[in-house]
Amino acid sequence: MNPSTDFVPFALPSLGPEEEEAVLAVLRSGWLTTGSVALQFEREFASFVGAEHALAVNSATSGLHLALEALGVGPGDTVVTSPYTFASTAAVARHLGAEVVFCDVVPGGYNMDPRRLEEVLASTRNVKAVVPVHVGGLPCSMPEILDLARRYGCAVVEDAAHSFPSRLPGGFAGTLGDIGVFSFYATKTITTGEGGMVVTSDSRLAKRMSVMRMHGIDKPVWDRYTSKTASWSYSVVEAGFKYNLPDLLAAIGREQLKKADRFLEERRRIAGIYGESFRGLPFAELPPEGPGHAWHLYSLRLRPGSLQASRDEFVDRLREAGIGTSVHFIPLHTMPYWAERYGLTPDRFPEALSSFQRTVSLPIWQGMGEDRARRVARAVAETGAGLSG
Ligand SMILES: Cc1ncc(COP(=O)(O)O)c(C=O)c1O
Repeated sequence: MNPSTDFVPFALPSLGPEEEEAVLAVLRSGWLTTGSVALQFEREFASFVGAEHALAVNSATSGLHLALEALGVGPGDTVVTSPYTFASTAAVARHLGAEVVFCDVVPGGYNMDPRRLEEVLASTRNVKAVVPVHVGGLPCSMPEILDLARRYGCAVVEDAAHSFPSRLPGGFAGTLGDIGVFSFYATKTITTGEGGMVVTSDSRLAKRMSVMRMHGIDKPVWDRYTSKTASWSYSVVEAGFKYNLPDLLAAIGREQLKKADRFLEERRRIAGIYGESFRGLPFAELPPEGPGHAWHLYSLRLRPGSLQASRDEFVDRLREAGIGTSVHFIPLHTMPYWAERYGLTPDRFPEALSSFQRTVSLPIWQGMGEDRARRVARAVAETGAGLSG
């Protein structure tokens, strides 16, 4: 790929010979599904983020479902989350028969607003869990959210799908609440293609999630076909799910984990180049920053009224200039399912709506290199200038 002329994709995974060899080793081992490699990945991930338990799952969506189930979320309960997220953050509450109440995001940003959360908790009955989302890798205001959750007697499940490896003074984002859920989807900073990890330091929750991850079977069964001592017998104690991560994918995850800090460093460098280039552009606002930003996304904000064009036209022009982009997120309350279920209009959550209307996520991936980042920055500046009055 030629960095000075070819299309710059929005995201590209960074996979090397290490991942290839690790997958080959699993292929040759004769054991493809969940086994010793997934177990090692869990141990290494737990140790990396400083959590007592880590459970490898086949997606963050599955992990969020397991988390709420383990907390006992069910019919009659309410789960509070932000509308500024991906479909599954809220959908899993409905899978369990609970209702969802949305809480708007901070003005000028993407994360749940603790001030509004207090209003929501004070006026909503039966809130079992709050699910803050660390959008784009910027951690939410966790001390305030945890304090509110404690005061109102609800659990906190961190949607940490974007925030690996985000270190805060009190620990990694994803390890601060009762349960944290990470995603290894193809565009994430470390990837297994599809996959995720659930972390908790509560042994009871870990046990429940482990049982429910594997058909509701009450003991680890992965080696029952090969171990000389294992028994063929098992017992089903719940109507569980099938949410395990196979060794084939865990092998990729183990190699990616070793590179996570380097990946973060590269992302920071690209965010730095963008920051320098966009500061001072009359049509652009920099994304919110804060401690522990994992820079999973670089979400540029277009200043309202500064362009004679919509965000969508800006995106089209960037594509014509050879730059891939995306938009994170189309707020859930504007989606037909949620709008109809709860009678929500787009202006019900004005901050989420405003952030959505003016945001464009630019390419940011390790391996992208400074030349490509500067090319993206030039294209943004030229596109904005071309669309300004
Ligand atoms: C904020 C957020 N939460 C949860 C998910 C679900 O992740 P997965 O695709 O691993 O199920 C995503 C997916 O990208 C996401 O962006």
